[in-house]
Amino acid sequence: MKVAVPAIGRPRFTALPPLSLYVHIPWCVRKCPYCDFNSHEARGDPPEGAYVDALLADLEFALPAIWGRKVATVFIGGGTPSLFSAAAIDRLLAGVRARLPLTPDAEITLEANPGTFERDRFAGFKAAGVNRLSLGIQSFDDAHLGALGRIHDAREARAAAEAALSIFGNVNFDLMYALPEQTVAQAQADVATALECGPPHLSFYHLTLEPNTLFHRHPPPLPDDDAAADIEDAVHAALADAGYGRYETSAFARPGHESRHNLNYWQFGDYLGIGAGAHSKLSLPDRVFRQVRWKQPQQYLEQVGRGLPLQEETAVTRDDIGFEFMLNALRLTAGVTAASFAERTGYPLAIVERELADAVSRGLLDGNPATIRPTALGRRFLNDLQALFLRDGGRDVVTAPLVRWEPAAPAGR
Ligand SMILES: C[S@@+](CC[C@H](N)C(=O)[O-])C[C@H]1O[C@@H](n2cnc3c(N)ncnc32)[C@H](O)[C@@H]1O
Ligand code: SF4
Repeated sequence: MKVAVPAIGRPRFTALPPLSLYVHIPWCVRKCPYCDFNSHEARGDPPEGAYVDALLADLEFALPAIWGRKVATVFIGGGTPSLFSAAAIDRLLAGVRARLPLTPDAEITLEANPGTFERDRFAGFKAAGVNRLSLGIQSFDDAHLGALGRIHDAREARAAAEAALSIFGNVNFDLMYALPEQTVAQAQADVATALECGPPHLSFYHLTLEPNTLFHRHPPPLPDDDAAADIEDAVHAALADAGYGRYETSAFARPGHESRHNLNYWQFGDYLGIGAGAHSKLSLPDRVFRQVRWKQPQQYLEQVGRGLPLQEETAVTRDDIGFEFMLNALRLTAGVTAASFAERTGYPLAIVERELADAVSRGLLDGNPATIRPTALGRRFLNDLQALFLRDGGRDVVTAPLVRWEPAAPAGR
């Protein structure tokens, strides 16, 4: 039966989506040449005291939009949050708990760089309430770490990996592949070392040349498409053999160890992002909107001091929401239930009925009406599949100034 779709309209939620909190810490020891995240060289000690004050003030301003809602995951990302002292992270988490109802089993992740590893400080992060560590290993090969401009070598990566596992147990390693001049054997050696350490979760990213990075201006000698595909196949096969399920495009986990925070992004849950340049996607009973905080750390500190943390706030329109939902959900190997579209967007699935039928007829989506799930072909041509849901539509600017709108950028990846 066809459902009539109103030409215009607002979302209607009977229950709001689950809510996560993202906290952005924008400083690093050094800027990596491939990185387009909002991260800035610290040049001395970052102003952690003033920044934690600003984060908590930012959270206070945001409370009316999320009043009474429970938070089941927190992700402290960057940048390099592990540059901060354990006392600063403790004050941050105590301040978050005093203002937000965290569930008793909340997943609290902190991103760390092996070049900033100190056992006592990391034990302090755990004592502060961090119960999951995401370690930016990138590679276990000295030549590749050098080519990536990393501040740590292979020995430090390995030592940080082992210590992180002994302190937290619940650890993710970020690794990248298709590195400059990388061979299949070298990528396999990286996977083998990671598997020897045995973290419950691994993120394997294809190194991409992002605009506004040094690598974009001066590209290194990367493997060509065929060589990169061979490396990818070898990496994925080794992870599957070792019992890690590929539950998302770049995320692999032992059963039951999927990242709850990232799953909430991909399942189109809500998230409040606080800190410099952080993105939020929030729902109210009759609207969905996005926010972006001021991006430059100094400007963010000043604007929060004036009570104005937001650089931009825009409503997500009915024309955009189908694409935004699919941009996230179709990354998941298992897809999502068809019912979750209405639950998470506030609109009936009928608003994307034509696009869904098109994707099924092209063999990119599974034909089962109870799920929205990419086929193997759909996963391979994910960008094409997602693009089928793109529409030319206007966006409602809710508050000035409108500077730039960016699609959902799950800040923790
Ligand atoms: C925000 S970074 C934070 C991790 C931490 N700052 C570090 O680098 O150790 C998250 C992850 O994104 C990945 N990443 C960053 N830039 C990338 C790029 N251009 N291509 C692929 N992956 C990238 C890296 O694996 C990195 O660990
Ligand atoms: S990759 Fe990580 S350490 Fe390097 S600049 Fe980006 S956020 Fe900082």
